Amino acid sequence: MNFLDIAKKRYSVRNYTKQKVEKEKLDLILEAGHIAPTGGNKQPQRLIVVQEEEGLNKIGKAANIYGAQCAIIVCSDVNETWTRPFDGKKLTDIDAAIVTDHMMLQATELGLGTVWICYFKPEVLRTEFNIPDNLEPVNILAVGYSSGDSLSPDRHNKTRKAISETVKFESL
Ligand SMILES: Cc1cc2nc3c(=O)[nH]c(=O)nc-3n(C[C@H](O)[C@H](O)[C@H](O)COP(=O)(O)O)c2cc1C
Repeated sequence: MNFLDIAKKRYSVRNYTKQKVEKEKLDLILEAGHIAPTGGNKQPQRLIVVQEEEGLNKIGKAANIYGAQCAIIVCSDVNETWTRPFDGKKLTDIDAAIVTDHMMLQATELGLGTVWICYFKPEVLRTEFNIPDNLEPVNILAVGYSSGDSLSPDRHNKTRKAISETVKFESL
């Protein structure tokens, strides 16, 4: 599969089987996140991989992970992230998003389903997983085996705005 085939195949899976994610596959997913670029190569990401029942129950207090058997909490260290000197903008979220996207697409290539989750209670996550103040929990990536029908890779004509609406050449 070429890159666009993988990207088109991916969709948000919101119903998972009880099948666990194999260690070999999880290792590849984590490797994909590991090689992701980050601003200034600062690598502020800190990942918490949750697969045990106790941890999945704890995540369940903060977010709906739709029954996925694996969830990766992607945090970013606000003290380590690169900061733009002109306006002080920190790349905290951007770096975490690139790491998450790399992992999500690697999971797709391996035949796994994923859903990217930002709808969570940060304070509950902090408490349940002892996340210190310098780490911002940015995303949860739920990973597992889809229990429903897959969506068509050709659906994007209907589910995305026209390219002409979102892309302009040379000037807005
Ligand atoms: C940054 C981000 C945050 C998202 N947060 C959630 C979420 O909290 N819960 C959820 O069910 N889906 C979430 N999604 C999934 C989007 O709703 C989904 O990607 C979008 O509707 C497009 O559908 P598709 O992923 O099936 O192509 C999120 C996606 C992104 C990129």
